[in-house]
This record gives sequence, C-alpha cells and structure tokens, in this order.
Amino acid sequence: MSHNTIALNKQQQPLDHLDSVWLFGYGSLIYKADFPYMQCKPACIYGWQRRFWQGSHDHRGTPQAPGRVLTLIEAPGARCAGMAYEVTPDTFEHLDHREKNGYLRVFTELHWLGEPGQTQGLVYLASADNEAYLGPDTDAAIAAHIASSAGPSGPNSDYLLQLAQALRDMDEQDEHVFAIEQQLLKLLK
Ligand code: BEZ
Repeated sequence: MSHNTIALNKQQQPLDHLDSVWLFGYGSLIYKADFPYMQCKPACIYGWQRRFWQGSHDHRGTPQAPGRVLTLIEAPGARCAGMAYEVTPDTFEHLDHREKNGYLRVFTELHWLGEPGQTQGLVYLASADNEAYLGPDTDAAIAAHIASSAGPSGPNSDYLLQLAQALRDMDEQDEHVFAIEQQLLKLLK
C-alpha cells in the first residue's frame, strides 16, 4: 500500500452524512490538538496497544532517514488510554493530511475514563502492509533510532518525551512507552 493514504481514507470512510464524529488520539493527538473540537474527554480502547513501529517520513524524520512514531497493534486483552475529541467531519480534511504517512482511519469502540459509557469513534492506524512500516525492535534500538531522528515537526525525541509526560499527567501507565523513554533519557544525558 502506498504510504500516502489521503485518497484512500476519503474513499473508504465517507463521513459527510454525520453531524459530528469522535476521534480517539493515542499519540501526539493526546497533547497536540491543532484543530477545532466541540468536546474532549479521556477515553480508552480495548484490544489494541501502542507501539513505536511506524516510520515517519514527514513529521519526525525524512524520506531519507525516517523517524519512529506510533501505531496500534491488535492485542487481545490489551487496553490503550488516550484522548477523544468530538469534531465535525470536515476536520478530517486537515487530519488526513497530517496523518497521511501510512495511516488509515477505522471505527472502534471508545470507553470513557472516569465515567460510564461508550461510543463509536475513529482511530488512525498504520498496518504492517504500509510502505513506511518499520516493525518491532528492542527498546534500546528504538530509543537510539528516536534519539538520532528529526523532521519538519521537530526532534523525534520530543514526540516520545511529550507523550510520556502526557500519559503521566493522565495517571496512565504504558510499559512500552516508559521503557523506551528510560533508554532515551540515558542516551540524552
Ligand atoms: C494519535 O495520536 O492518535 C495518532 C497517532 C498516529 C497517527 C495518527 C494519530
């Protein structure tokens, strides 16, 4: 699959018939909402885990030296916490462009944190068949890769450090993120 997914998302997931849509953010969308929204609430999804397994050619790296950013991997029994935003469908024009490097949108069930209830929402994920996919590596190798990468949106290390802090601010644990953060902090010393 080509890593530019703008057209695919538009074609596979038309949203124009809806008044509003919930979007679930599990990465930079937790701490960087650069779009208008009606409401924002902490939420989680089940059966998915965050992994630094996707290459970034356009934000935290370059086509010649891609950085490493998050995608979601299916994992029965797993729980992934993040932030949900209620947006109008036209917001996806901007978001599809921002997340065009291999990410497709899919609907999944969002569960609110701290209050009962759930709703359907969209999440961006980059599957193993996209051209920018990098796949697993050790925590130390992922940290070293992140430490040496940068792109138009800034250093790859900022992406990881801001995410880890945002998760701590939400009182959320994520072993994968915090283990790579520890390795990265050692390298940055
Ligand atoms: C997010 O923060 O939810 C996100 C992560 C990767 C791509 C798009 C969005």
